[in-house]
Amino acid sequence: MLVLGIETSCDETAAAVLEDGTVLHSNVIASQDEIHSKFGGIVPELAGRCHVERIHFIIERALQEAKVSLKDIQLIAATEGPGLVVSLLVGLNTAKAIAYSLRIPVIGVNHLEGHVLAIFLQQKVEFPYLALIVSGGHTDLCRVDGFGQYRILGRTRDDAAGESFDKVAKMLGLGYPGGPIIEKKAREGNPQAHTFPRAFLEKSSLDFSFSGLKTSVRNVLLKRESGNGSTTTDEDIAAGFQEAVVDVLIQKTLVACKQESLQRVVVTGGVAANGYLRERMTSSCKKEGIDVFAPKPVLCTDNAAMIACAGYYRSQYCSPTENDPFSLDAHPNLPF
Ligand code: KG4
Ligand code: ZN
Repeated sequence: MLVLGIETSCDETAAAVLEDGTVLHSNVIASQDEIHSKFGGIVPELAGRCHVERIHFIIERALQEAKVSLKDIQLIAATEGPGLVVSLLVGLNTAKAIAYSLRIPVIGVNHLEGHVLAIFLQQKVEFPYLALIVSGGHTDLCRVDGFGQYRILGRTRDDAAGESFDKVAKMLGLGYPGGPIIEKKAREGNPQAHTFPRAFLEKSSLDFSFSGLKTSVRNVLLKRESGNGSTTTDEDIAAGFQEAVVDVLIQKTLVACKQESLQRVVVTGGVAANGYLRERMTSSCKKEGIDVFAPKPVLCTDNAAMIACAGYYRSQYCSPTENDPFSLDAHPNLPF
């Protein structure tokens, strides 16, 4: 089955062609980083307008690269939520229009299901596994028992991990998105130069909190600006901050594995592109006999291949033809 995936939940306009859930023929992603970077974060109106300008061109590119035409497509999968409503509507309405004109089924996909299943574009992972979803909008620990069988075990109570990377980069005046910039800066810094707080919350809680860490970075910067002789460099702050985030993510992942008796972890979402997190998670889990899997970085950050993948597997256990394409709608706060 040839699936066209469409993803426009945030600031990436993306389309992909996937065969039988595993053979990826194309994966085209147009980033809007250059548009939003001068604002230090995403401006929803600009994101929506940019999606409208690009979506047809991106779909055409995905079809061309896959060497197929629209008439070869058997199913369209598009993100229906969660995300920015002005962004979601562009991809979803385009998907509905194409599906209606071709008389083929269209399926709405939860963006988080896309992240959780992205690993299947690369390799099969035996169920059950623990998915750590770390993105710009989410930090979730999710038990995955099969396709469509998900249970959230913990989530962030305030900022998402990626959001805290973005905010710290903004405070340091380093641009957007903050994750890759902070990771690069951190390589030149000393993580022990300043110890930032780790919010482990109650011992058995699998929830996260990153807002205190962000405030702590602000306080260090204010102290430095007041000229109190502090020698903490931007590189040290980046390294110390990253260390604190990674420590908490690993600790909570290990607690979740123990509580749920799980031996496999899939780290996914934009922050999972972080090399330091991947390395540390792999070595810490190995000590406990836990295997760690992570999609390659381009499949961690937002892409349409993961949406096509989730749509394909969804179509195997819930018939998309039962969905009236006109009943599909964007859901900015779609629960997972
Ligand atoms: O999954 P994603 O592309 O979009 C959402 O669903 O939110 O994640 C984007 C987030 C941004 O906050 C970005 O700063 C972060 O992922 N990110 C990273 C890295 N690459 C992207 N965070 C840390 N290290 C990275 N290398
Ligand atoms: Zn995402």
